[in-house]
Order: sequence, then structure tokens, then C-alpha cells
Amino acid sequence: MPDEKRKYRSAAWFGKTDKDGFVHRSWMRNQGFPDHVFDGRPVIGICNTWSELTPCNAHFRHIAEYVKRGVWEAGGLPLEFPVMSLGETNIRPTAMLFRNLVSMDVEESIRGNPIDGVVLLCGCDKTTPSLVMGAASCNVPALVVSGGPMLNGKYHGHDIGSGTAVWRFEEELKAGTVSTQAYMDAEACMSRSAGHCMTMGTASTMACMVEALGLGLPHNAAIPAVDSRRYVLAHTAGARIVDMVRDDVRISRILTREAFENAIVVNGAVGGSTNAVIHLLAIAGRIGVNVTLDDWDSLGRNVPTLLDLMPSGRFLMEDFYYAGGLPAIIRALDERNLIHRDALTVNGKTVWENCHSAPNWNPEVIRPLEKPMVEHGGIAVLRGNLAPDGAVLKPSAASPHLMQHRGRAVVFENIEHYKGRIDNPDLDVDENCVLVLKNCGPKGYPGMAEVGNMGLPAKLLKRGITDMVRVSDARMSGTAYGTVVLHVCPEAAVGGNLALVQDGDVIELDVESRRLHLDVSPEKLERRRRQWQPPVNSMKGGYQQLYVERVMQANTGADLDFLTGGRGDDIPRESH
Ligand code: FES
Repeated sequence: MPDEKRKYRSAAWFGKTDKDGFVHRSWMRNQGFPDHVFDGRPVIGICNTWSELTPCNAHFRHIAEYVKRGVWEAGGLPLEFPVMSLGETNIRPTAMLFRNLVSMDVEESIRGNPIDGVVLLCGCDKTTPSLVMGAASCNVPALVVSGGPMLNGKYHGHDIGSGTAVWRFEEELKAGTVSTQAYMDAEACMSRSAGHCMTMGTASTMACMVEALGLGLPHNAAIPAVDSRRYVLAHTAGARIVDMVRDDVRISRILTREAFENAIVVNGAVGGSTNAVIHLLAIAGRIGVNVTLDDWDSLGRNVPTLLDLMPSGRFLMEDFYYAGGLPAIIRALDERNLIHRDALTVNGKTVWENCHSAPNWNPEVIRPLEKPMVEHGGIAVLRGNLAPDGAVLKPSAASPHLMQHRGRAVVFENIEHYKGRIDNPDLDVDENCVLVLKNCGPKGYPGMAEVGNMGLPAKLLKRGITDMVRVSDARMSGTAYGTVVLHVCPEAAVGGNLALVQDGDVIELDVESRRLHLDVSPEKLERRRRQWQPPVNSMKGGYQQLYVERVMQANTGADLDFLTGGRGDDIPRESH
């Protein structure tokens, strides 16, 4: 029986001899718990996003068993609990609409229950930020165990990547260069094992982010879901969180300004998703650390992209792990003094203690500093009259010849308008045009769907055109690519200048000078503004109504305004 000197928060439930204590313990005993598990030991919540509707997280109950082994071994009491699970490929209208809802589910599950520390089981895109946001709002000790990526896709003798292959196949199908049968064959070849997308999509990006932030154990990001070492990591995490509770290592000790700066730099080095921008801003907002959109540009601008991974490069997450994983990337970045070495991580060591001797086993996959994939990676933050509050573009996924471009706008008022018009043979469009999509931001869609990388017109694909400048207030899947300007703020639905763009207007993009300009005079824009009508909100109550009313813009993380700001310090830490 552990001889705990401190009385943890859970003792307010299990540590009493009165009627309340009787009730709290008695009902728990129906699960077969003996007396001694209520002896004051740390109670560890295992927050599980398992769901068969979230295929990327469908193996999580198995992972939870290994976390429990570690918790028991270290003298804690593990209690697994479910929260709403967001399966990117299934849930409608878009998983992002529910990220903040899940974070509330996580927060209130922790606040309302006898939990001293929590292990967050994260995988598919939104499951990572939502769980971290919820735990940050409670400021309890927390440790992330990611579910791990799928094994490499294998198709007709070569590797194919989740999502990235879908975008390519769809373009080839529209261009008539691949048969429908070959397209259908790729389905099973792409998703061969348990795990999340094995490209540098949002799931892999966010797994890298939690490791870079110090919230995950070393190698959390890349170990494949079905590799036995994923289960060793889960077991180790279970043991470690018990000690974190004993040492009172709350999530605010890990999520410092330095940790966020490390994560932003790492995002540039791995060619991470633009979605990380929104999610990290939201997490920072929850813990009360000042991180801004401009930090992404200033900190990431000179970071070389070292990881040669799809969609920007050639390899996949399995290759990344065998090449040395994230510790090898962090070690390389330190050579340019880009890493805060002393940032604390969940294993009790600093980032540098974890990574200083990490080997790079394959310089094809993890490029050396002198031979990067992209010399200046990171996320470009654009401004101008079309995005006064900012917009983002991922240079490593864009076409060099379009980074400075001036073109005629072809405008779609919303996603339905786009779908109905894009493949019309009479659409007046050529490869120099700029495709503009409105009303797909947080309030407009609502939920800010991943539709910003709108597919090109079929008639241009048939001519071999593979990229065009695209501009929208939407997001883009991390598995996608192209010269795509995203997250335009303010969004069209709240009357940003994006709402005023018309067919034939000229738009200028200059990534080097971070400029996004609508070449229309202020007087003309003002005239258009006077005639502009906001889109009709057809919400009929419920969570979606609350979301539309209270969601913030993308440049501050698209969180609900009443959820921000270090609110976790009101939780009692100990029972007296
Ligand atoms: Fe789940 Fe890509 S669909 S991670």
C-alpha cells in the first residue's frame, strides 16, 4: 500500500469515513476494487477517445490497458473514462466544429471527478488539441499518449500516404489519367493497419507538437500504432503520470512560452500542418500564455524543413521513426540555436536531456541542416487589405513559381457555389486566375472546414495544370498541398474584405514580403460594403448556435471566447 504523505484531490471523494466517503467508494467497488486501492494513492484518469466511428483511434482501448499497467505498477489507481470522439473522415459538417465542445467535455469530466492526474489518449486530428485544451483548463498533471501512425500505404509496388494519395488520385481521375478501378483499388492499400494518417497531416503534426511541447514522452510522435514500442511507451506513460502527481507537475509547468516557441520551430522543421497554428493558439489561450499569429512567422521564418515527408516530401511516418524520430530533428535544430534546451518535459527531464544524443539513422528522411527540403520552412503569415488580421500559407507545400503572383479572381460565395460551378466547362478560368472561396471560416461554414485546398477545374487538370493560387477563410487538411492561402481574417461571414471580392478583381500574392492585396480602391470597397448582407444564420439552437455566437476568429485560435484564460487554478489540488 503506498504511504502517501500528501492528500490528493481525490481524497475529497475516497478519503472520508462519512456517508459521502461510503457512497463514493461503495459504488466503485462494484468493479471489483479492493480496500487498499482507496488508501490515498494518486487517481489517474485515462481520457479515452476510443470509438469505432473514429477509425484512427479504434485501437485505443488496447493502448489504455498498457497505460493502466504502468499506473498500477507505480502505485496509482487508473480509471478510464470516455469523451466525445472526433473522427475526421466521418463526422459532419466538420470535426473542427466540435473541437471546443470536446474540450469542454474533457474539462468538466476532470473537474467533476476524483482525478489527480490524467493521461490523454489522442490520435485523429482534433482529438489532440481538444484533449490538451480541456486538461489545460484544469491545470492538472497531464501526459499525452498518441495512438501512433498507420503503417506505410502500399500500392502497386510503391508507398502511398493517407489523404495525400486521395488528393492525387482524385486529380488524376478528373484528368482521365487513372481508371475508376485503379482508384477504388487504392482504398485498402492506403489504410493497412490501426493508427492515424501516416503523412504529415494534422494528426502527425499534432503528435509532433505535443512531443515538442514536452507533453509526450520522447518518440511519442512517430512510433507506428502497431509497433510493440508504442505499447511500451503507453506503459511507461502510465507509471510516469503517477510520479507527476506526486511531484505536482501540472500542465502549466510544461506549457510555458519557451515550450510553445520550441513547438513552432519544430513545426517548421517537420513541414507541419497549418492547422497546428490554430490549435496551438487555442491551447496557449487556455493556459494563459501569450502566443500570437505573428510568432508563427517570426519564429518559423528561418527554420529549415528537414523532414522529407509527404505531402511536402517523399517518405512516411514509419520511415520517420526508423530514421530517429522527433528527437533527431530537435537535436539538429539545436545546432542553429533554435531550441530552448531547458524546457521541462513530462518525463522530468529537459528537452535537451532527452535529445542531445539522438541519432539520425537515415539522412534521406531526416535531412542534414546543410541539405534541407526547404531552406525557409515554417508558416508564412500574410497581411494586406484582404487579410488585415492575417492569413497563412505553408511554403513547403506551395509551388515556387506561384509565390509571387498577380491574377484575376474567380469567386465562389460558399462551398455549394464552388461545387456547382468549378467543373462547368463554361467557367471563365485559366491557370493564372486566383480561386476565391468565401464563407467557410469559423462562423461562416460553421466550423471552418478543410475545404481551402479546393480542387482545380477539370478542364485545367486535363491540360496538366496542377496548382493555382487559392484564397479562403477555410482551413486545409494537413495531408494536402498547393499554393493555398488559408484562415483569412476577418472571415467573410463577419464582413471581412474577403466578403467583398468579386469575379474579375485582381489579387496580388507576394509570400516573400508577406503581402496579400486586393487591388480594388478603398472607395469601391466601401460602396460594396454598404450593399453587403451577412449570410443568414440558419442555426436552430443547441451547441451549434452557441458555437456561432461565441467562436473567435482563426487568428486567435477559434476557441469559444468564454473558455480562454488560465482558468485551471481554481481547482483544489489537495484535500484537507
Ligand atoms: Fe484520422 Fe487522418 S483521418 S488522422
